Order: sequence, then C-alpha cells, then structure tokens
Amino acid sequence: MTIDVVILAAGKGTRMRSPLPKVLQPLAGRPLLAHVLASARQLPERRQIHIVVGYAATAVRSAFAQDGDLLWHEQEEQRGTGDAVRQALPGLQHAERVLVLYGDVPLLRADTLQQFIHSTPANALGLCTGLLPDPCGYGRILRGAQAEVLGIREERDCSSAERAVAEVNLGILLLPAAPLRSWLERLQPSNAQGEYYLTDVVALARAEGVPVHGHRLPDPEEALGVNDPAQLAAAERYYQRQQVQELMRAGLRCADPERLDLRGTLQFGADCWIEPNVIIEGKVCLGDRVRIGAGAILRDCEIAADVEILPYSLLEEASIGAAARIGPFARIRPGSLIGAHAHVGNFVETKKTILGEGSKANHLSYLGDAEIGRGVNIGAGVITCNYDGVHKHRTLIGDQVFVGSDTQLVAPVAIGSGATIGAGSTITRDVPAGGLTLSRSPQKSIPHWQGPKKTCTPS
Ligand code: UD1
Ligand code: CA
Repeated sequence: MTIDVVILAAGKGTRMRSPLPKVLQPLAGRPLLAHVLASARQLPERRQIHIVVGYAATAVRSAFAQDGDLLWHEQEEQRGTGDAVRQALPGLQHAERVLVLYGDVPLLRADTLQQFIHSTPANALGLCTGLLPDPCGYGRILRGAQAEVLGIREERDCSSAERAVAEVNLGILLLPAAPLRSWLERLQPSNAQGEYYLTDVVALARAEGVPVHGHRLPDPEEALGVNDPAQLAAAERYYQRQQVQELMRAGLRCADPERLDLRGTLQFGADCWIEPNVIIEGKVCLGDRVRIGAGAILRDCEIAADVEILPYSLLEEASIGAAARIGPFARIRPGSLIGAHAHVGNFVETKKTILGEGSKANHLSYLGDAEIGRGVNIGAGVITCNYDGVHKHRTLIGDQVFVGSDTQLVAPVAIGSGATIGAGSTITRDVPAGGLTLSRSPQKSIPHWQGPKKTCTPS
C-alpha cells in the first residue's frame, strides 16, 4: 500500500521566542523541516509528500523552492494539528494510508519510520509512543485494562493521575485514508487550548472499532520534539553525537566526540586527527593525515594530505595544498588557494589569493586579490592595499620574492621574480625582477639632542 506523508509545519513556535518560524530553525546547519523531509523521502512506499504551512508560509516555502516534489497546503489560522491535517484533505483523495509527521520532530530516522509502518496492520491506526524520563509537554497515552490504547490526552487537559503517565505520544500517526475525513470533521475544540487536536482521532477510531496499534519506540529520544531553545540544543547534541559516532566508526579520529560539530558533510582520508571544539560546515574534504587544531572552523574547504591547521583558524571556501601549515589564528577567506608546503601564520588574512608552493606569510598580514608565486617570503605586517575606495585591484608577486616586513603593496602592482623589497617600503609602481627595491626616507641621528623638560608651573 502507498503512503502519503503529511508534515505539519504551520505553527509559529511561540516558545522559541524567535522571529524565524520554528521549522526553519537550524539543526546541524539545516532547517528542522529539512531533516523531517529527508527521512520522509527515504520511505519506499511514499506516494506524495504534503506540507501544511501557515505562519510565515512564504518564508517556509521559499526555503524549499528547489524541492519540486512537495505539495503545499496552507492553514490560514493555526487552529490545531487536526485542523492542519484537514487542510491537506483535497490532496489526499487518492491516498491509501496517511503518515502524519510534525515539522518540529527532526531526529526520526527513516528506518525507524519503516519499522513503525511495517508493524501497523493496514486497516489499523498506528501511533508511536515512548517512555520518557521527563514527559513534560507531551500528550499522555491512556491505556485500558488489557493495555489497549484508549486515546491521547494533551498535558494541559490531564488530571494529575494522567499527568503521571510516563508513556507519551511522540507525534507520529499512521492513518487509514478512507475514514480520515469523517474523523477530522468530527473533531471538537473542547480542550484547554480550544484547538482541533489531531490526537483526538485515536479515540474516534476506537469508538468505530478500528484497531489502534501503539508502537513503542525503543529509543524515544529520536522523537524529541523541539518546542523551545533548550529542546533545540538537546536535539542538536543528540544529532551531533550520532553523526560523530558514525564518522569515528568510519575511521575519523577525534580527541572528544562531544566537541566536534558537523553542519554539513565531511569526507576524510586515513589517519586524520581533530582536536576539540572544531566546527565543520558545508562540504569539507580532508586528505590523509590532516590534523585540525582546537577551535578551528572550516566551511566548504578542500584540504590536501598532511596539512596541519593550527588552533583557532577560520577557513572558508578555500583550498589548501599538501603539507601546508595554517594558523594558529589565521583567517583564510573565500577564493584562497594555498599551495603545497606553504605556511600561513598567526593573524594573517587571505582573500581571493593564490599563495604558491612553499611560500610563507607567517605573521600579521593582509593578502587580498593577490597572486603570489613559489618560494616567496612575505614578511610580518605586509599588506596588499587592494582597495582604492571604489575598486579592487590585484597584486602580482613572482617566484622567490622576498617582501620585507611592514611593506605596503599598493595595487595594481607587480613584483618581478627574485626581487627583494626592503622593510617598511610603500610600493606604488611595478618592481623589476631581481635586485633590491625600497622606498624609505633616509635614517638620521641628531647627536646630543635634548628632549623637552618638565618645568614647574603653578597650577
Ligand atoms: C503535539 C501533540 C502531542 C505530542 C507532541 C509530540 C497534538 C494536539 N499534540 O504537541 O500529543 O506529544 O506533539 O511532539 O497534536 N501545527 C500546525 N498547525 C497548528 C498547530 C500545530 O501545523 O494549528 C504544527 C506545528 O508547526 C508543529 C506540529 O504541528 O510542527 C506540532 O505542534 P505543537 O504545537 O508543537 O504541538 P505539541 O504541543 O508539541
Ligand atoms: Ca511540538
């Protein structure tokens, strides 16, 4: 039998206290809703995925504008989860079974959903339950004398005895499509919130003799709902832990799996080593034996074999050649191509710059819009003055150039191969190959010079 998946994403997420709609809040760098979608898409029985949006509907839809396989439904007023599913009914005419997922339950894996679907008889209503140490905020599962599921009671509507029930509704329902419309039409907003609760269909189904199948998840943490920043952080930790365990099983070595954050994808070679508090974003590839120091952040980077990234360096959209050394405290900005065996040291910033093989910029430099050859030495404090206030200009430096400390290279400017530039120069014209070029006012000393002296003046 086919399954239509309905994902509820119309709520504002008031408890997040954020202008960003809850389903767009990021988990591991992707919106919550993207995680739910990824699991839904892996279900082989899936026919159509429906998303019910409401609060900030345009923002939510445009975040998924590239996804052509979704059917969007709008819930103009957020009158409860039952009312939300009702908005999807026009798209469910040919549905056989309907799986309802909540856009704020992001950690569920497809294989867990698959087991739930397979364990629910085709004519039954299935719901996922779990035993939570802290059931606070969840609907409680009410069971009868034979442990059969009688219904779900939202926390706010619970008696104190019901509130003590540890088994909760995890928010995943599998419904036979045929009776669904009539159940939804019969929902009443007679509860503490005055909303149409989807969870009330369980009692309606039972009253009609439809079997109700409660499927208890062995790891209910996987169905953690995100309602406030604390739950978002808990979900993030859970996700990161799972992800890093998987990477480590595939051979990644890291000092502390609890202190590596991956918000994207990481490919890595043999024997890579990651120190604590590293953040990896976007798509990052590491060659063999790469070492990443504490607190480094890498976004969309290609790092070749034997590279060493020293602590607290930030690298974005960059490519680092084999055995290069970066940092500590280096800032490698987009468009930086750092050659093999090159060194970029502390407080050096590069942007749209090629640093050739074996070249070194070890201290306190800005290298922007520059093309730097091989074996070049960039002294401490060298700056490419690439911006004239309106346009950006390029600096070209040949092979084996030595740029003395505290030199400003006022672009556009080219330095010929093998040139040496004296420390403290301001270079405004092209420099020929070889030889020494410097721009420096002559040094003078005034013998027996007396500095000013303090005189006693009445105040
Ligand atoms: C819901 C369940 C509760 C369950 C918990 C699991 C109901 C009535 N309660 O409570 O039993 O234990 O999830 O996490 O279903 N939404 C809409 N339109 C609305 C209201 C909500 O689309 O009018 C969406 C929200 O965007 C959210 C989801 O439905 O993605 C759940 O809504 P939320 O208000 O978070 O329900 P909970 O109080 O968590
Ligand atoms: Ca919720």
